[in-house]
Amino acid sequence: MPDDLISRTAPLTASRPKAPLAGTIRVPGDKSISHRSLMLGALAVGRTEITGLLEGEDVLCTAAAMRALGAGVERRKDGRWLVDGVGVGGLTEPADIIDLGNSATAARLLLGILATHPIICFVTGDASLRSRPMRRVTEPLSRFGAKFTTREGGLLPIAVTGAIDPVPIEYALPVPSAQVKSAVLLAGLNTPGETTVIEREATRDHTERMLGHFGASVRVEPIEGGRRITVVGQPELKAAPIAVPADISSAAFALVAGLIVPGSEITVEGVGLNPSRTGLLASLKEMGADIAYLNERVEGGEPVADLRVRAGTLKGADIPPGRAPSMIDEYPILAVAASFAKGRTVMRGLTELRVKESDRLSGTATGLASCGVKVSVEGDDLIVEGNGGPPAGGALIQTRLDHRIAMAFAVMGLASKAPIQLDDARTIATSFPGFEPLMNQLGAGFAEIG
Ligand code: S3P
Repeated sequence: MPDDLISRTAPLTASRPKAPLAGTIRVPGDKSISHRSLMLGALAVGRTEITGLLEGEDVLCTAAAMRALGAGVERRKDGRWLVDGVGVGGLTEPADIIDLGNSATAARLLLGILATHPIICFVTGDASLRSRPMRRVTEPLSRFGAKFTTREGGLLPIAVTGAIDPVPIEYALPVPSAQVKSAVLLAGLNTPGETTVIEREATRDHTERMLGHFGASVRVEPIEGGRRITVVGQPELKAAPIAVPADISSAAFALVAGLIVPGSEITVEGVGLNPSRTGLLASLKEMGADIAYLNERVEGGEPVADLRVRAGTLKGADIPPGRAPSMIDEYPILAVAASFAKGRTVMRGLTELRVKESDRLSGTATGLASCGVKVSVEGDDLIVEGNGGPPAGGALIQTRLDHRIAMAFAVMGLASKAPIQLDDARTIATSFPGFEPLMNQLGAGFAEIG
């Protein structure tokens, strides 16, 4: 249903549980890896079997998109997903507009794939996605020879006319974005010759890793202050099994809950610890968090571990801007942790937070201020002053179609003095279906109202 026709919201109240949080959970599969496994599976020859796929709305949009473009995408009763690929360049024109819901990863990566398929395709999304910058991908993708007709400002809905004879490009990323990097590399897949992306700051590298896993030839060379990534075009990708690890960006909410609810001890199992994603853990450790890595192992080509946290006193820390790409989705929940810490936490260089599902820099600051936290935004830095005790809470948070703002403040309500209400918790299902019941297994006692 189009988002503007849905009127029912799902408010949520988060309040202090009667007892500390305790127990072991596994959070859903990694969102980034889930999108990519469906897309690359669709471009491979043969049947790709995916276990642990995130069945959140964002990823289900990608599944539907790849099906509409001609791939076979099927969920088995046991939870496995099977993708029958059409081969690189083999996608066909969809009969209708492709709606990618709330997901910029789906939209930007798919625009990359479509840019070098000789078909016409119309792409749209929900109100949040229709407000997010797309020029960051349409600009480099036009250089391959694709044509984009967009709304004013380069926004979705967008009509893509894929290049018939694409030419390879070399592109230096103007913003540190794995989505832009991936869009260019995926366009390079169906382009003769070599396509190169240069990034000054390392961003998550799932696309490069997974292209290699499917048999593409990818070179990653360290260069002064960054990396140069080259994909050799028009390979035959071969179907390959994927085991999706648990998403560290979802685990983050349970981990911080375990740190701030006094007396808690919880474990989150099988969390993906790709080094390009672990900035939150480094930051929390600097703040004095008690986090143990148990059963460290490699699963499906990614390092994973069970993470055990124990609640305790946190202290303020200075989080450098260079860490932002490795924890870009975790700032709202880190800021919540900072508001329980003793002292000043400075989170630097957060420009990209302004163009997420909502303006997360202002949304986080406004939400914390309404909960009685001393917080300020200076340029692109977010500064939180904690006094080592629980903030007042007691606010109603506007979630603005942003799942991570919703979950961050839901967690905050578990340890603030007064309960916190969310205006609408539905958006959580985009990345973390089952968030409330899973957290309730640990003793959170989330209550839907309305
Ligand atoms: C993602 C990259 C990040 C992140 C998003 C997922 C990806 O976006 O915020 O949730 O899967 O490539 P940017 O690349 O725009 O920073």
